[in-house]
Amino acid sequence: HLSRLDIHPVIDSTNRELMRLAAEGAPSGSVCLAERQTAGRGRRGREWVSPFGVNVYLSLLWRYPFAPSNLGGASLAVGAALAAVLSELTDEGVALKWPNDLLWQRRKLAGLLLEVAGESQGPCHLVVGLGLNLRMTAGQGSAIDQPWAGLEEALGGVMVGRNALVACLLEALLEALDRYGREGLAPFLPLWRAHDAYLGAPVRLLLGERVIEGIHAGVADDGSLLLDTSDGRRAFQAGEVSLRPL
Ligand code: BTN
Repeated sequence: HLSRLDIHPVIDSTNRELMRLAAEGAPSGSVCLAERQTAGRGRRGREWVSPFGVNVYLSLLWRYPFAPSNLGGASLAVGAALAAVLSELTDEGVALKWPNDLLWQRRKLAGLLLEVAGESQGPCHLVVGLGLNLRMTAGQGSAIDQPWAGLEEALGGVMVGRNALVACLLEALLEALDRYGREGLAPFLPLWRAHDAYLGAPVRLLLGERVIEGIHAGVADDGSLLLDTSDGRRAFQAGEVSLRPL
């Protein structure tokens, strides 16, 4: 359940703030929201563009009794749960790009950044950060280096109230994190697979300096990405890998 809710007009990063609070003993279910971030963090060390008042920047702390090595599937579980919520709002067009980007019409609608801390023998805690574009202008989003969309556009120009939207997202996140702790990734896989944006499509994987091309063959039961390459089928863990359509 939700145990603490902090809302900041401006903060460096809601993820960073919750990692700080977690170290001070904040309870599981603590949430941090901001209108603007001055150092919004994306995956792979990138910046998350975070202008004031036009998007959702949300982080949630969750504590698990087990070791961090069990959290390999958490990012897919959370992505699948959010895809279900956003699909209900938008009728169609919401899909997932492995491991957990939410797309609308193949443009990025939202991103998730999961940060884990804890001893290798457990227990551990997880901070889930969600950046959801709502009504950012083209100018505000001009520094984003890939096609992106906002939820307002996906809803045909009619926006749902932001508070109601955040309440819905939080409910889905809390339920997904709790369920993941009890049942792992398995119950989320059918949902993830039903929203897979690039299944069967030629894609390129960026692994640091290396690039591997192949056909996206879906997601394995442990959440790794399956790629049919000229050397046969290979599996990749999320870590520092990024997927791009060809
Ligand atoms: C990605 O690269 O796709 C992940 C982006 C995650 C952005 C969110 S915004 C709220 C939270 N605080 C951060 O600094 N990052 C995440």
